[in-house]
Amino acid sequence: MSSIASLLEKPELGFDDLVVLLSVEDPDEVQLILDKGQEVKKKTVGNKVYLRGLIELSNICRKDCLYCGIRKSNDKAVRYALTAEEVLQSARFTYENGFGSIVIQSGELLGETFVKDLEGYIRAIHTAYPDLLITLSCGEESLETYRRWFNAGANRYLLRIESSQSDLYYKIHPHDLFHSFESRKQALEDLRTAGYQVGTGVMIGLPWQNEAHLAHDLIFFRELDIDMVGMGPYIEHSETPLYDSRDVLWPYEKRFQKSLLMIALLRIIMPTINIASTTALETLDPKGRKKGLMAGANVVMPNVTPMAKKVNYKLYEKKSGLYTDSSASLEKVRQSIEEAGDSICFFNPGISRHFSDRTKE
Ligand code: 5AD
Repeated sequence: MSSIASLLEKPELGFDDLVVLLSVEDPDEVQLILDKGQEVKKKTVGNKVYLRGLIELSNICRKDCLYCGIRKSNDKAVRYALTAEEVLQSARFTYENGFGSIVIQSGELLGETFVKDLEGYIRAIHTAYPDLLITLSCGEESLETYRRWFNAGANRYLLRIESSQSDLYYKIHPHDLFHSFESRKQALEDLRTAGYQVGTGVMIGLPWQNEAHLAHDLIFFRELDIDMVGMGPYIEHSETPLYDSRDVLWPYEKRFQKSLLMIALLRIIMPTINIASTTALETLDPKGRKKGLMAGANVVMPNVTPMAKKVNYKLYEKKSGLYTDSSASLEKVRQSIEEAGDSICFFNPGISRHFSDRTKE
């Protein structure tokens, strides 16, 4: 048995093992790891895939993250916020097409207007479609705000840590109170306290990131006992400061490959969580979503934002699906899932088994 095959048999992978596995480049050995991810997925969460309709609520952001196309200082970004009617329309599309849940994502904003508007949308969606589970991905807020949104009807929250290592975190964020690594970790704690199913994630292939950073990220997810993860390759955007460091980036293929390895290894070390096959994967490879599912992911998030608005939600360049309407996005996703040999679990909120087990008395 090769050393990689025997490593994969270990009952618990530690940091050093993960560094070795993440550093594998030989195609046969990479495939061994991806196959193991798929095997574990089949045994634990099965070949069912859950759909979340992604509503990109607004690209207005108070933050200035050095990698992100909707950062506050990008004057070229055309800013928008969906109207209440557009939000409800997107939720209706999601519901009528049998998705079990929606994700409302937006730039990070503070202040009563934002908090109250979103609270109203959550309540309206929850009242109209009580079976539709509501996930939020709206950034760092106070525990009190998280509680208000939870009480209005939201039950899951995604907040990527972006990198679990503070040295790298501060290379990709400004050094100020708005971008504190400690506050971001605290926000993840607060979400747990407020009762949400909590998800986090990282970008893969950031400048200066190496396999040890990525192994730490996996350990971070496990230590936090997280319920869901969404992670994908970093893709540069020319209107951001990090673009100046593009010369040190891994080539696209390598960022893509490492992303698949991260999915497979995460499935192996956290067998029952929900893992998304992300849009950024699809952006780097036309079969990216399918390959993510085949490495161990079990969640896909078709975009249901009205077309006229979503063209301006550009976190990175060449984003896949910008000019595809909601029905066509769903069709594309359906195809990827079928090609991966999986089947869609319609009318099912897709609660992470990890969360159900964690909260069972
Ligand atoms: N490349 C890839 N992902 C990005 N995100 C933001 N900017 C980029 C980029 N340039 C991701 C962040 C954020 C999520 C909504 O989008 O991880 O949490």
